[in-house]
Amino acid sequence: MAHRIVILLGFFTLCWRVGCGESNKYNEYTLIRLQPSSDLHIEAIQNIEKRFPDLEVLKRSRSYNDTTDILVPKNQLSPLRDLVKKEEIFYDVKENYGRSFEAINRTPRRRVFRSFNIFEYHSYIAIQEHLESLAKRHPDLMKLQTLGMSYQGRRMKLAKISSNPNAGNPIVFIDAGIHAREWVAPAMAMYLIHRLVSDPDARRELNGVDWYILPVVNPDGYEFTRTNQVNRLWRKTRSKNGLLDCFGVDGNRNYGFKWAVSGVSKNPCDKETYAGPKPFSEPETQMVRNVMMEYGKRIKLYVSLHSYGQYLVYPWGYTGDFLPKEWQKLDTLARMVSEAVESAGGKPFRVMSAGKWYPAAGGSDDFAFGVIGVPYSYTMELTDGYEFLFPERLLHTVLPQFYEGFKVFGAQIRSEFAPSRHKKDFPTSESRKL
Ligand code: ARG
Ligand code: ZN
Repeated sequence: MAHRIVILLGFFTLCWRVGCGESNKYNEYTLIRLQPSSDLHIEAIQNIEKRFPDLEVLKRSRSYNDTTDILVPKNQLSPLRDLVKKEEIFYDVKENYGRSFEAINRTPRRRVFRSFNIFEYHSYIAIQEHLESLAKRHPDLMKLQTLGMSYQGRRMKLAKISSNPNAGNPIVFIDAGIHAREWVAPAMAMYLIHRLVSDPDARRELNGVDWYILPVVNPDGYEFTRTNQVNRLWRKTRSKNGLLDCFGVDGNRNYGFKWAVSGVSKNPCDKETYAGPKPFSEPETQMVRNVMMEYGKRIKLYVSLHSYGQYLVYPWGYTGDFLPKEWQKLDTLARMVSEAVESAGGKPFRVMSAGKWYPAAGGSDDFAFGVIGVPYSYTMELTDGYEFLFPERLLHTVLPQFYEGFKVFGAQIRSEFAPSRHKKDFPTSESRKL
């Protein structure tokens, strides 16, 4: 008897850790990557989305050298295939998609004396602890500002990195992880913080520019994606939607600028793009709004880190019908960033306005640009080729490549906005005596 209880208990803890109780429904799904090569194809793909409401669209494409990636449940596979063949769209498939979740995408619980490996995915607690310890280790460079609590009560802290906090320097504001499943985004934010405080060469990046970084905007969702494999593809927050048994709002449809005018769902049970009951219904987006309003005009660059698809897009996101009058500056800087990443061995970004990719209103990029008046505002979709399951083992290759792009961002903000004594090159010890 006692034996049985022990075995049962053991089974429970195992299931709780790896989620074996719920079998992963995605094992029964097939990933289809559609490769459009004409406008007719693009149109056909849009119709497919309407015809098959049970598909889970992971990524949309606009141009011919880009795929639309769709998860297809078993019972829809053959009608969908027939249609794709009829339309003569190139495609490739990956069956039993859930199995790709099994490749180590999670780091097991942190062992006590193990230090934080910047090239791994971490729990929210580990991330918070690491922020605290960095702030302690570099009190001259890094401060934490508590912004408030997530819906489930997780404390959210903004890392403020500055070598001269009283100078009123222009601010580069970066956030990540508004979408729960996009793990590479918080990893990138943490890597940025790590480089800025611990790389002696990064003093150049801190010269005349302050970097404010919020690594996980949606910690509840993030932790939810870590609970088991079925939840790995969760995107939204985890707030409860009224009396319904449905959870979460798409944080990147929840900002109060042109709210819900395009590219959103009004259905609280929609898994992807529910805009929320009203603008800023979520404590997480309220916090970002509040801190953006606090620093207001000092913020000269805003970057929201997402994955995936290797896109670097700028406003407007709510419409693809027209561009802001400053679009050329936004476009030029994005292309410079892309080139820097490419020179470092990375893939170039697909640069365009977010709305030309696909219109979606209520994004943080449009809010920063349209309401706060941040002159350079972007959404950066990191990585390409692994959907949301970017392998941990490749982080050490891509994060430093992306960092090169952030140097270009920093240099632009310095040359355009920093107090003039910073605009020259980094001061040598000679000039510092003056
Ligand atoms: N993948 C991002 C999303 O769907 C893109 C956001 C781009 N910005 C925008 N305002 N539509 O949230
Ligand atoms: Zn996203």
